[in-house]
Amino acid sequence: MSLRFDGRVVIVTGAGNGLGRSHAREFARRGAKVVVNDLGGGIAGDGASTTVAQAVVDEIKALGGEAVANTDSVEAGDKIVQTAMDAYGRIDVVVNNAGILRDASFQKMADADWDVIYRVHLFGSYKVSRAAWPHMRAAGYGRIVMTTSVAGIYGNFGQANYSAAKLGIFGLAQTLAAEGASKNILCNTIAPTAGSRLTATVLPKEMLEALKPEYVTPVAVLLGHESCPENGKLFEVGGGWVSQTRWEQTQGVFFQDEYAVEDLQKKWGDVTNFENSRHATKVTESKSGIQERLGKGMVLSPQ
Ligand code: NAI
Repeated sequence: MSLRFDGRVVIVTGAGNGLGRSHAREFARRGAKVVVNDLGGGIAGDGASTTVAQAVVDEIKALGGEAVANTDSVEAGDKIVQTAMDAYGRIDVVVNNAGILRDASFQKMADADWDVIYRVHLFGSYKVSRAAWPHMRAAGYGRIVMTTSVAGIYGNFGQANYSAAKLGIFGLAQTLAAEGASKNILCNTIAPTAGSRLTATVLPKEMLEALKPEYVTPVAVLLGHESCPENGKLFEVGGGWVSQTRWEQTQGVFFQDEYAVEDLQKKWGDVTNFENSRHATKVTESKSGIQERLGKGMVLSPQ
């Protein structure tokens, strides 16, 4: 094993089951001290149990690894970070992975379904990262791995709440990547597909077995390593398949001065023509067309 985590402290949220458990075990196997966080509730965010996180800590210790349990909700991210500081005195890696589902068609979606999904996924990822941030900045080192979903990237029937929260996580990740880079804090996002209790309700048994969480974990571990090759990037991963996803922008069309809707309609084919497309990775690149129009005399700020 050349990719080691000796001396590193890794927080994995929602590490009592599925993907998080697999990530936590692999970080520990590679020498990390791991904070195994899990609230221990049901897939819809109901209930709590202190045994779920501890069970994974026991597994890690039985294999000769080092880990400590934390049973707070990610909504109390500062307490999870405090567990890491109390036990090990530092934080090198945060893997924001905890998650639940409250699927309902938009027509039937209740505010409570919207709120709890936002709180666990987006607010939870914010709270844990926010609490770890000052420690990472002070150390001049950090790796954050966010967990989004194809439901957020592409949309999925019955998951308006989850899609919104999950793509929000990617937005958060891209700004953390921009703000953290100068302090060697790198932040990337994975969109996994794996057999777990979350997907057990929708996938047949043989498919669940073919999509082991262990097939996703190497990506989370590489992005958490000091040799992490990327920052602010998005990876779709599952079943042993690993790929990168990025934005694509057409060349666009310039109109002189004000233009009528009819002018726009005539040019719609050009507006949506992806020939010679661009792949902007920051705001200044995405607005290069607008900047071109403004000319050198007026320089757009990154906002
Ligand atoms: P899982 O249900 O097996 O594991 C999620 C864990 O998070 C559970 O142990 C649960 O107790 C814990 N958790 C839930 N709410 C929590 C909270 N407030 N605080 C702390 N822990 C909490 O699910 P799975 O599939 O391993 O999901 C992990 C992540 O991957 C989730 O964020 C999920 O949205 C995401 N994901 C999974 C996909 C899949 O195919 N399994 C697809 C796309 C995204």
